[in-house]
Amino acid sequence: MNNTSNTAPIVAENLSRHFGEVKAVDGINLTVNQGEIFGFLGPNGAGKSTVVRILTTLLRPTSGTARVAGFDVVKQADQVRRNIGVALQDAAIDPLMSGYELLELQAVLYGIAANKMKQRANELLERVGLTAAADRRVSTYSGGMRRRLDLALSLVHQPAVLFLDEPTTGLDPMSRLTLWEEVRRLNSEGTTVMLTTQYLEEADQLADRIAIIDHGHIVREGKPSDLKRSVGDPTLLINVSRQQMDQAKVVLSAFGDMRPTAEGTLGVGLKGGAERVAEVVRALDEAKVVVEHLELNQPSLDDVFADATGYRLEGADNAPQAG
Ligand SMILES: Nc1ncnc2c1ncn2[C@@H]1O[C@H](COP(=O)(O)OP(=O)(O)OP(=O)(O)O)[C@@H](O)[C@H]1O
Ligand SMILES: [Mg+2]
Repeated sequence: MNNTSNTAPIVAENLSRHFGEVKAVDGINLTVNQGEIFGFLGPNGAGKSTVVRILTTLLRPTSGTARVAGFDVVKQADQVRRNIGVALQDAAIDPLMSGYELLELQAVLYGIAANKMKQRANELLERVGLTAAADRRVSTYSGGMRRRLDLALSLVHQPAVLFLDEPTTGLDPMSRLTLWEEVRRLNSEGTTVMLTTQYLEEADQLADRIAIIDHGHIVREGKPSDLKRSVGDPTLLINVSRQQMDQAKVVLSAFGDMRPTAEGTLGVGLKGGAERVAEVVRALDEAKVVVEHLELNQPSLDDVFADATGYRLEGADNAPQAG
C-alpha cells in the first residue's frame, strides 16, 4: 500500500493548523489510496473538520503539505477544487431555494454547459431519491433529505475524490443506512471517499481503512479488523450454574487470562480466538460443567479507541446497528 503513496489521491505530510494556542491539527501524516473509503474517526473538537478544510483548499495549513488528486492544496488549489467534491458539516444553503435550483446553481458554478444542466440535475436528484421533492424549498426538507442534497451537490462535476464531513450526524438509523448505501455505490463506481465521523459503527461498517484522531493527532490507523485484532484476544463469556462456577473457572483459566465480567458470568481472554471455542466446550464437557450460555465477544472499535486515547468515545451508544 505504501508504494502507491506518491500518486495516492490524498497524501498529507506533517500537516498542522494552529489557531493561536489551539493546535487543532498537529503534525498528521495520512495517505488515502485510490478507490478507498477512508474514515476519519474522532470526537468533537478532535480536528476532523480542520483537516477536511485544509485538504479541500478552504484553509491554509500552518505547516506541512498535502496533495489531493495529485495537486498541492496550497499552490495548486484551483486544480484540486476541480477534482474534488465536498459536503461540509456546516454547509450554508439557501433554504428558500428548491433542491433543483440549488443543483442548477452548483452546475453553473462548475461551468457545466447549459444544455447539460437539466439532465445532470435530474440524474442526481434521482440518484439520491429526491426527485419527488425536487421543486420544494429546502427549508421543508428533513435532516436526511438535506444531507442527501448536500451529497448530490458535491457530485455535480463528477469528482474523483469526495470529502464528506460527518455526513450522517444527527440522522435516524434508516436515513443513515440510505446514505451509507449511496456512499458505497459511489465508491464501487470508482470514487475515492474520505469521510469524517463520530460514530464507531459508521467507521467500522463503511470504511476500508480508518484513522482515529484525537487532539489533532492520529493515534491509530489501519483496517478496522486489523485494529480490533491488535487490541487483543476476544473475550469468551460463559454462564454456568452457581454451584459449578469454581469448576468452570479452573477449566477456563487454562485457555487465557480471566477477565472482569458482570456478576454471574465468567470471561476469559481466549488465546487463539474463535478457533479454540470448540476445544473449550469439550474441556468443560469433560469436567461435567453444564454451560447455560456461551458467547464470543470480539474487541470493538470502541476498545481500540479506548486503548489509543485512554477514554471511551462519547456518543458511541447512539451509533446505529449494522443493517
Ligand atoms: N476558525 C477557528 N478558530 C479558532 N479555533 C478553531 C477554528 N476552527 C477550529 N478551531 C478549534 O480547533 C479544534 C478542532 O476543531 P474541528 O472543527 O477541526 O474539530 P472536529 O473534529 O471537526 O469536531 P466536530 O466533531 O465537533 O465537528 C477545536 O478545538 C476548535 O475549537
Ligand atoms: Mg467537525
